[in-house]
Amino acid sequence: MRMNVKAITMVSVRWVVAVGLLCAVPIRVAQTAPQAKPQEAQPQTLEFTRDIRPILDKNCTSCHQPALKQADLDLTTYARFQAGGKRGPAFVAGSPEQSLVMQFITAALKPSMPLGQPPLAANDVATVRDWISAGARDDSPSEMASSEAAVYHQPPVITALRFSPDGTTLAVSGNREVLLHRADGSGLVKRLPGRADRILSIAFSADGNLMIAGGGTPARFGEIQFWDPREGKLLRAAETTSDTVFGASLSPDGSKVAVGCADNTVRAFETATGKELYKISAHENWVLGTAFGIDSKRLVSVGRDRAAKLIDADAGQFLENVNQMHGELSAVTRHPTADEIVIGGEDRIPYVYRMDRPRNMKVGEDATLVRQLAAQDGAIFALDWSPDGKRVAVGGAGPSVNIYDAESGLPLASCKGHTAGIYAVAFSPDSTRLATGGFDGQVRLYSTTACTLEKSFVPVPLLNHPTAQSPRGGGPGGGVQ
Ligand code: HEC
Repeated sequence: MRMNVKAITMVSVRWVVAVGLLCAVPIRVAQTAPQAKPQEAQPQTLEFTRDIRPILDKNCTSCHQPALKQADLDLTTYARFQAGGKRGPAFVAGSPEQSLVMQFITAALKPSMPLGQPPLAANDVATVRDWISAGARDDSPSEMASSEAAVYHQPPVITALRFSPDGTTLAVSGNREVLLHRADGSGLVKRLPGRADRILSIAFSADGNLMIAGGGTPARFGEIQFWDPREGKLLRAAETTSDTVFGASLSPDGSKVAVGCADNTVRAFETATGKELYKISAHENWVLGTAFGIDSKRLVSVGRDRAAKLIDADAGQFLENVNQMHGELSAVTRHPTADEIVIGGEDRIPYVYRMDRPRNMKVGEDATLVRQLAAQDGAIFALDWSPDGKRVAVGGAGPSVNIYDAESGLPLASCKGHTAGIYAVAFSPDSTRLATGGFDGQVRLYSTTACTLEKSFVPVPLLNHPTAQSPRGGGPGGGVQ
């Protein structure tokens, strides 16, 4: 099922995540951009978002962003750029000579910026200078110009959920941040703001010392964030491609992160450094999910080209197709202790496969298929295998999340109460609880045996409407006018 352009604009107020949609939006942006050129014959006034921000994103924001403010300077929005860092405002509109940023990028002040890298290209320096001379115009949409942590007027679409391995914390995606909640839903513990607008996957290392968050800003950049979740500290961030990354997974030995990309590649990164290790171009369309094998040496990727592919995760080489399916694939997850995966997508059926094909078996033969589970009421977006290996949870465009017995494939329970698309499901480490999230912005916690709803909450602080705020005349401060 695909939505047309009109439908996309209609729903874009709350950004939409049906995986198919996520994929469609940036492509359209990319395609329409070049057409907007013809009338640009005469010189145009330089603008922050259009002309300056791309230069900063490319060269500066790896160090100057909310989670990593070198010299107390954040260059991700106009307002924060203007506010400047420890030495004061970073630019003075109309006066490049008095602007700190010019002094640092021309090496008049040391250390020259970008720190430790070759100087900016001469025309980029000229662009920044001309923009300041012409009054440092700001074309930011008002939301982007607003400062500090994301402000929510309504619950954000939830695209990723994960319990910490010790079972104390539930990490939930927000807008430009990850929110750490107490695992029983009794409260928000920490907010981890980052640079990427969207967080589409979250994973913890086995010892719980590392949390990765994969996502990005559509049509701008993909990002993998490496967090110390206990301290709430961003350790490093890796940027890749010019679009959001999907289905990030961490190898069981913790050494690598794999992601799927909108340029049809699978990419892997070294956890210790954030360095990109390799990219594999075996898919013919966007790659939406990845899962490592038990020994961390193999990797399965799934994508919109309907293919599930097996990759040598050490060498970074495509090995073979696990299978070619009937519809686009958007999710993959592995059995906790065996090299079996469950994959799912557009054709609504969760398939359980063995990762490896016995040597004598021909490609195309379906003998690695272990079983298939019941067809869902809608496309599949999210899958999880319980840590005790006994259950598989399936969520997607249908209204309920279904839990199956992993051994027999029989349905065990159906978790109801969601209003629309489900984009994330996660079992607790003891397998007794299932967390779900999606379009309606509610995190729901169910007991896994009978799908009893234990708790439902909005994971972000919501900004109250002034009219809905304090009761009239109540409290020491009196009523709100
Ligand atoms: C690798 C990290 C890194 C990168 C990339 C980087 N910076 Fe910096 N920046 C720093 C550090 C560290 C300081 C503090 C230097 C000092 O005060 O000695 C700094 C300081 C600054 C300051 C001074 C802020 C103040 O108020 O003290 C400005 C302005 C600045 N950077 C602009 C930029 C711009 C513009 C870019 C991109 C062209 C950039 N930086 C890229 C690390 C970086």
